[in-house]
Amino acid sequence: MACNVYIKFVLVVCVSWSVSFAVAQPFKAVNLGNWLVTEGWMQPSRFDGIHNKDLLDGTQVQFKSTKLQKYICPENGGGTIVVANRTSASGWETFRLWRINENTFNFRVFNKQFVGLSQQGSGTGLVAESNDPSNSETFQIEKENDNSNRVRIKANNGCYLQAISEDKVTADFQGSGWEDSNPSVFSMTVLSDKTLRGEYQITNGYGPDRAPQVMQDHWNTYITDDDFRFLSSNGINAVRIPVGWWIAKDPSPPKPYVGGSLKALDNAFTWAEKYGIKVIVDLHAVQGSQNGNAHSSSRDGYLEWGDSYIQDTVDVIDFLAKRYGNNPSLAAIELMNEPVAPGVSLETLKKYYQAGYDAVRKYTSSAYVILSNRLSADSKELLSFAGGLQTRVVIDVHYYNLYEGKFNNMNAQQNIDYINNDRSSQLGALTTSNGPLVFVGEWTGEWKINGASKEDYQRFTKAQLETYGRATFGWAYWAYKCQFDHWSLKWMIEKQYITL
Ligand SMILES: *[C@@H]1O[C@H](CO)[C@@H](O)[C@H](O)[C@H]1NC(C)=O
Repeated sequence: MACNVYIKFVLVVCVSWSVSFAVAQPFKAVNLGNWLVTEGWMQPSRFDGIHNKDLLDGTQVQFKSTKLQKYICPENGGGTIVVANRTSASGWETFRLWRINENTFNFRVFNKQFVGLSQQGSGTGLVAESNDPSNSETFQIEKENDNSNRVRIKANNGCYLQAISEDKVTADFQGSGWEDSNPSVFSMTVLSDKTLRGEYQITNGYGPDRAPQVMQDHWNTYITDDDFRFLSSNGINAVRIPVGWWIAKDPSPPKPYVGGSLKALDNAFTWAEKYGIKVIVDLHAVQGSQNGNAHSSSRDGYLEWGDSYIQDTVDVIDFLAKRYGNNPSLAAIELMNEPVAPGVSLETLKKYYQAGYDAVRKYTSSAYVILSNRLSADSKELLSFAGGLQTRVVIDVHYYNLYEGKFNNMNAQQNIDYINNDRSSQLGALTTSNGPLVFVGEWTGEWKINGASKEDYQRFTKAQLETYGRATFGWAYWAYKCQFDHWSLKWMIEKQYITL
């Protein structure tokens, strides 16, 4: 008898313990990527209607004087004069575009200043000194013809830039012509492998007249009620939805973003409730960019999120928690996707995570709060911090057999072994009895093997499902739809490459 009571007591304690530290059934989720935060690589055709689409924000370009056969370079990478004496081009000789319109740009240099006209002397010398582009940092790129990489660059004083000598570039050329000996002609190299195609590029590329309709059409058609029905009838019980910081400013976010993504997210919650699917809202893009990637909506590839952005970012979390905190379909709010070390310091990140956690808890005690690990940092670095937050905290790790050289030459079996051994022990090291839950918030069936058989894909995804199935919060496939088949869970399910 006494023994029985004791067992009951232990059971009750255990059950309530596990209720507060584990989800009843770990999530089998999918990422609704490229919906509310554009990821151009997943569907490049969305950019096709942009005029001059090879010159979007963040495009990296180099200019070689056809006369001198030397590259333009901000001396020291920025902060002083611009010269034209480099025989080869790398970081300092590379300029990142800020697009004003299809022909008009600012040029951002290595040290992040903008090229402009000097305030000194005649005011026509070219320098890279301003941190805040205005008219004198604004230039038109004129191509010789539509397909040409031969350009002339007009300053806002109406004159063209010329490489007047190797140590001087000035904005005082008034002639015309395209001959090689013309000091105002440059051959422009576009570093096409560095192109960014995110939300900033698509909205600013289409511009204020066209972007609202283009984005609205995308939001209305890319994910619909039907998709939630498909997911629920195929064993998926949650969606992770990437959103951008501008959603908190809907319906009139700052340029170039356009309003309407909030309504789309509202719709997702409606469909989620209808089909019994939970929603993980993931702040994927924060102001300033936490990783410099297109999917963080970086304008030019620089990572600039830091202490000065904490309050703005917490405000976005506050907005989301206030709006959805009591929604029965909300499972979790992820405070930030994929911050990168060392650009984002651990100290700053913890400060933000603490404040973001508190913001969520103002509105809900039941929603989980997800903390993304810093990429390229020790995956255990947040464990004790996360354990110190009160309750319902989750660490998010992203497991791709991609993006690191070691995967380039692995065969199918080696990839599968890597999941069974390395990923399994990485996951195990993060899983503690009274610490945060663990979420494999992104993974995919794609790998570095070309022409693998369907059976190989099936074995690879099965191994991942088994291993990530042990993650205490669950997993989320990247992504639901993608023009590359193996990245699309929809395709993988329909073609039976994945069985859930
Ligand atoms: C280019 O010109 C600048 C300014 O005259 C000079 O300081 C620098 O050493 C030169 N660099 C090269 C590679 O010639």
